Amino acid sequence: MAKIIYIASDGTTTEVEAQNGISVMQAAVNNGVAGIVAECGGACSCATCHVHVDPAWVGKLPEPQGTEKDMLEFVIDPQPTSRLSCQLRITDELDGLVVRTPISQY
Ligand code: FES
Repeated sequence: MAKIIYIASDGTTTEVEAQNGISVMQAAVNNGVAGIVAECGGACSCATCHVHVDPAWVGKLPEPQGTEKDMLEFVIDPQPTSRLSCQLRITDELDGLVVRTPISQY
């Protein structure tokens, strides 16, 4: 289990206890977190699960690869810390992960 902290563009914070193995996107959808639409259901083809990872956590995540890397070139409001949350698998090591949802997804 890991606690994932989602911060909306208006500052609203939602903390979710998520089981290992699911994605940061799925944990958000399961708990009704606003700002993560996930239109493609995690197939890495919509980018509506875009998040900005807190800079303190970026180095603890594997680098984006392949399709995620390509899709990140098309997101609205890209930042160096941008990730697709459907590609981030939850592990114990991510306990306390902080991600921010872009205003464009509201
Ligand atoms: S849910 Fe569609 S790209 Fe992540």
